[in-house]
Amino acid sequence: MSNSCEKAYITTPIYYVNDIAHIGHAYTTIIADTLARYSRMAGLETFFLTGTDEHGQKIEEAAKSRGKTSQAYADEISATFKNLWDDFDISYDKFIRTTDAEHIKGVQKAFSTMHSNGDIYKDTYKGHYCISCETFFPLIQLVDEEFCPECGKSTSIVEEESYFFKLSKYEDRLLEWYAQNDDCILPRSKKNEVIRFVEGGLQDLSITRTSFDWGVKLPEDMNDPKHVMYVWLDALMNYVTALGYGTDDANMDYWPARVQLIGKDILRFHAIYWPAFLMSLDLPLPKHIAAHGWWTRDGEKMSKSKGNVVNPKEVADAYGLDSFRYFMLREVPFGGDGDFSQKALIDRINSDLGNDLGNLMNRLIGMSGKYFEGKVDSSLVEKYYQVELDEVHASLAKLEPLLYEMQLHRYLEELWRPLTVANRAIDKYQPWTLIKEGKEEEAMALNGLIAAILAKVSVMLYPVMPEICTKISTALGFSINHDTWTKLAMGTALLETFTLEKIDPLFPRIEEPLLAQIDPVDKKEEPKKKENPKKKENQSKPTEGIALIGIDQFFQTSLKVGTVVQADEVPKSKKLLLLQVDVGEETPRQIVAGIKEWYSAEDMLDTQVCVVANLNPAKLMGHLSEGMLLAAKDKDGLCMIRPEKPKTSGTPIG
Ligand code: MSP
Repeated sequence: MSNSCEKAYITTPIYYVNDIAHIGHAYTTIIADTLARYSRMAGLETFFLTGTDEHGQKIEEAAKSRGKTSQAYADEISATFKNLWDDFDISYDKFIRTTDAEHIKGVQKAFSTMHSNGDIYKDTYKGHYCISCETFFPLIQLVDEEFCPECGKSTSIVEEESYFFKLSKYEDRLLEWYAQNDDCILPRSKKNEVIRFVEGGLQDLSITRTSFDWGVKLPEDMNDPKHVMYVWLDALMNYVTALGYGTDDANMDYWPARVQLIGKDILRFHAIYWPAFLMSLDLPLPKHIAAHGWWTRDGEKMSKSKGNVVNPKEVADAYGLDSFRYFMLREVPFGGDGDFSQKALIDRINSDLGNDLGNLMNRLIGMSGKYFEGKVDSSLVEKYYQVELDEVHASLAKLEPLLYEMQLHRYLEELWRPLTVANRAIDKYQPWTLIKEGKEEEAMALNGLIAAILAKVSVMLYPVMPEICTKISTALGFSINHDTWTKLAMGTALLETFTLEKIDPLFPRIEEPLLAQIDPVDKKEEPKKKENPKKKENQSKPTEGIALIGIDQFFQTSLKVGTVVQADEVPKSKKLLLLQVDVGEETPRQIVAGIKEWYSAEDMLDTQVCVVANLNPAKLMGHLSEGMLLAAKDKDGLCMIRPEKPKTSGTPIG
């Protein structure tokens, strides 16, 4: 997000109503809520949209299997999403449903406009369709020529008359958009993935179906009642129909969106189809499409279709909503995947929240209560503690760009530095010693410093932890709003003199998991795989002679030291590990390595490796691999090649 426009439109994807919400959905929504809250606090006119995606064969079938009409079923599940977001105090401005009459009108208007612009034609479509993902896949991408590369379910061949959108026509304009807008897709590593896909050639997109009914009908003047719109055309349009596109245009001045938040699994739809649709409609393109990674459970992607979901309400009720929000944003670098565990959540609560933040508040309450009857006077802070204040302000100055770059984990990491400054200052200057030595003025100034730091941190932490930060600011005698954001967080103001209100400890220590069990993992049977003879491991064959190469040729290979910052198993694979490897770039590279027979995910975590960093990316079992690790294999097995001593991630090897 850049700070150049006054309005900020922030969207989440709209959620399918084929089942109830899990923590993956909560993650997307919480990030968007954080951005919206920050944006309002920063004085931007903000519109935050979320909602539900209710059409399509998948929903029709889910309703049928429960003996309900599609509409009744959609009503029921849509309400569970809305209720959850209301329980979570998500600050959305509109909750859209694709069954809303205005949305339907807007989609039909879009269809007519694309048609009259010459971008829609009629033909026949034949392809392998995955109902679960509502997507056609080319044969080459299917597992064993049958199963969906995304969800593993069986696909079926669908042949039908269809209207097509001339996606191929927009190839060059899309590439131009990516080239001219450095941060249109975040993280940037994901943008390269999209560019490579588009460079591989785009085929026109089938945008209507005749095999089911539960969808938006074509505009009446098309005179073709057996067609309904492809669910992705219908769904993507929600981002503008919510603003009144095709009806009253009431809020269209919020368009283009400042940031459209999505999961990486729906990047193609948002980074290719969506901008192409917008180009066809002559509408401006979103400023940023930001794709986060997946939350997994025991290394497996968490999804409704797999039945291994974690219920976000259950977690928030047990551990506290704000703690859950903090954990989700802090635990995983934006764009990377994260495995959900109660242990990791408890560690974050006890350490970051309890020790660093909650305890600092207690220390301030203790100090000011014991020596000054709760009074906090900041007038002499600059005289005694300017060095500490400078350090705090330097950290605060780094925050906003991190948020705008979607580096939320780094935002929180940086925001914790002022807390370290505060805790360190208490240990170093020891208020009890100052009082003993009769240096009351210095002790009061120290009090003022700690209160100021807590105030500044609570303002910038508010978008992530609204309830806790409101508690802190109330105790410190001020409210969090645009004015205090400007003065305390963006500026160098300190607090007025006030009397501190005593509050209960914010984060009581958690000794053991609070949930006996999180929804049991209901493992579904995996599709049987046939052996692919081409994929057989290439056993080390004797080398007859080694062709010599020049040094230039050697240096065409970019070798770098990498640090494994996350390691997971690839579900259903005996050989593959899914690694996130820091090679000194903005975000870690995802590398799929065939080393599981010799190394567990745990073995690999936090170790250093040697990475071939300029290989063409490849997809292995549906996962993008952006590099290769160096290893040596003989009859005794395989071992990784690693630097002898720790080296900075990204150090070139050669
Ligand atoms: N209906 C489409 C989106 C249409 S937007 C025009 C859809 N719905 S979904 O319910 O399947 O997913 C919604 C969002 O939740 C996506 O951003 C998806 O990435 C995210 N998540 C679903 N499962 C997830 C995890 N296990 N982890 C993190 N987020 C994931 O796709």
